[in-house]
Amino acid sequence: MRHPQLRPDGELQHLLSIDGLSREMIHRILDTASSFVGVSERDVKKVPLLRGKSVFNLFFENSTRTRTTFEIAAKRLSADVVNLNINTSSTSKGESLLDTIDNLAAMDADMFIVRHSQSGAPYMIAQHLNEMRGDAVSVINAGDGRHSHPTQGLLDMYTIRHFKGDFTRLRVAVVGDVLHSRVARSDIQALSILGVPDLRVIGPLTLVPEGIESMGARACTDMREGLRDVDVIIMLRLQNERMRGALLPSAQEYFKQYGLTREKLALARPDAIVMHPGPMNRGVEIESAVADCPQAVILDQVRFGIAVRMAVMSMLGAH
Ligand code: CP
Repeated sequence: MRHPQLRPDGELQHLLSIDGLSREMIHRILDTASSFVGVSERDVKKVPLLRGKSVFNLFFENSTRTRTTFEIAAKRLSADVVNLNINTSSTSKGESLLDTIDNLAAMDADMFIVRHSQSGAPYMIAQHLNEMRGDAVSVINAGDGRHSHPTQGLLDMYTIRHFKGDFTRLRVAVVGDVLHSRVARSDIQALSILGVPDLRVIGPLTLVPEGIESMGARACTDMREGLRDVDVIIMLRLQNERMRGALLPSAQEYFKQYGLTREKLALARPDAIVMHPGPMNRGVEIESAVADCPQAVILDQVRFGIAVRMAVMSMLGAH
């Protein structure tokens, strides 16, 4: 069965999850992003690919990096960008999500960027728009609940490919609150599709999802064992807002066991890179000295995020 984000010809209509993308499609997105990195380094950082198109940023959940880089990316593609302020919109008067979407679609929206605390909300919107407007409007999932954050997954893959090259030789560790992390899910899916042979998930048992092996990863509760000789370390934030009940003794205890310190980083390969999707909690999942060390590529991730989001938007808007 065709994935709901694909058109009948196999091209992308929406971007809802990493799941459903082929290895070739992911590399095509990353190759397209490469061409946009140069645009961002020019004096005039604009190309006309989305001129005349309207992009609506709908963030029902807080964001710094994703919302801002989507806006910058859309503007660099010459789109008209509307940032709906959810707090002052009529959703606070009881308007339903789909009524809000219908009203914005009536304003000739071409693309919706949607972040929502409910897993599946962008799927529901995409399905509704398909029924109401055919394939004229695209939806990009900017993070839904604990389910998926596909553009973060793609920008993480761009960052890894930039610094490490061939995925099929890499040892990668994803560390921390995997259970509640949409970034972890998207990264693990992408790393698996791209053929990473040694993918480790490190965290306390309470924060590692059951059946992680079926996603191509190996679970490890001992950080020192799990980090040995890895090329890439992806640190995760503790998603306290998504935890029901206390899953950890304390933040201090967590840092002692799973915080990335210089001493633990030394167990990885000397040229290992350290990644974090942000927002980062220094002293909880990562030591400040590690976050700021030359091996940390955390701000490169943010920079590449603009080019990757330009690539996705230009591919969706090409139809
Ligand atoms: N990585 C990420 O999604 O960050 P924001 O919540 O700031 O968008």
